Amino acid sequence: MTKLRWGMIGGGEGSQIGPAHRFAAALDSAFEFVAGALDHRPEAGRDYAQRLGVPADRAYGDWREMLEGEKGRKDRIDLVTVATPNSTHHEITCAFLREGFDVLCEKPLTTTVQEAEEIVRLARETGRICAVNYGYTGYPLVRQMRAMVAAGDLGAIRLVKAEFAHGHHADAADADNPRIRWRYDPKQAGISAQFADCGIHAMHMASFVTGQAVDRLSADAVACIASRELEDDAMVNFRMDGGAVGRLWTSSVAVGRQHGLTLQVFGEKGGMAWAQEQPNQIDWTPLGQRTQIIERGAADLYPEARRASRVTVGHAEGMTLAFANIYRDLAAAIRGDDTGAPLFPTAEDGLCSMAAIEAVADSARHDGQWRDARPPMLRKA
Ligand code: NAI
Repeated sequence: MTKLRWGMIGGGEGSQIGPAHRFAAALDSAFEFVAGALDHRPEAGRDYAQRLGVPADRAYGDWREMLEGEKGRKDRIDLVTVATPNSTHHEITCAFLREGFDVLCEKPLTTTVQEAEEIVRLARETGRICAVNYGYTGYPLVRQMRAMVAAGDLGAIRLVKAEFAHGHHADAADADNPRIRWRYDPKQAGISAQFADCGIHAMHMASFVTGQAVDRLSADAVACIASRELEDDAMVNFRMDGGAVGRLWTSSVAVGRQHGLTLQVFGEKGGMAWAQEQPNQIDWTPLGQRTQIIERGAADLYPEARRASRVTVGHAEGMTLAFANIYRDLAAAIRGDDTGAPLFPTAEDGLCSMAAIEAVADSARHDGQWRDARPPMLRKA
């Protein structure tokens, strides 16, 4: 099978998320990295792309040049990943969708609900794939949790507790570090920093696993480092459309915590817990019984989880392989192959997240008043 052609915008040398995308896209040999506009500094982007093996004529100085260069080619890219800072996602994603490209955009999809709705409409009108990189949903045991909920193993879901709390932006003296500064600058990050950056992964995962959308929420958000314009810590209470109650804590000043993404789901027939730093096990406690360990790679997992697992039981499998599951499923969808039931977060998921981000920011500004967290476009009549 010939490889699909893949391009990337952002993810330049030293970026946080660029390497994970390149490893993930390469893992199944489904994609060949043929084009890129990798850096906000044109020369640095061209140079780095070529060092990564991109041909010189497709190592672009910026994304507009890349769009112009790619749209006329017979061998144009099949998928473009947008991994630039948040404020640029909307413009770049729309421009590529309009020219008929499939897009994988980093989260958050946009910086406003209105922009996210525009992307959803555009993806529908053009019929192109627009995926959003909630890459942690690619972990085999996250897919196992989703399958367990769908199969009714937990019964009705009563409670979801999600956390994404780390301590890597806790040093006030680091506030001018350019890789940290943009995240707390409303001009580049939008209306939310830590919730939009990390908390939203946890909230999306709560929806992904329970199959329930977030209906409404109440938030308390603070900048523990006073020089920041946007929050570095937030606590969010939410209610889901299937009746589940949600609790979410996100922080970037929780010194001593590393990645800090965890999810616990409690139903009427049992409870389960998963932590991204120990991704190969779920603690599963059926009501009235002892806690059991569900191990990644075990033969009795649900098919979705078995399919997502790449190495044999007992070996570590991590974030890059989780992202690779998103890329593998995208490759299948681009090829029109639905045999493995490709699973990846879509622009609609990105839109729901944007509505939650706006609701968190608004609620926090009003002393935690409850807010509707549903995007207007997806509200049922
Ligand atoms: P970063 O600041 O480490 O890197 C950003 C890269 O984009 C740099 O190489 C920069 O030169 C380049 N860039 C900036 N503007 C550009 C433009 N107009 N054209 C081309 N390149 C441009 O940022 P990081 O942490 O890699 O985040 C990028 C995006 O990925 C953000 O939207 C962030 O929210 C998301 N992200 C997602 C994660 C996930 O788990 N899904 C994890 C970390 C980040």
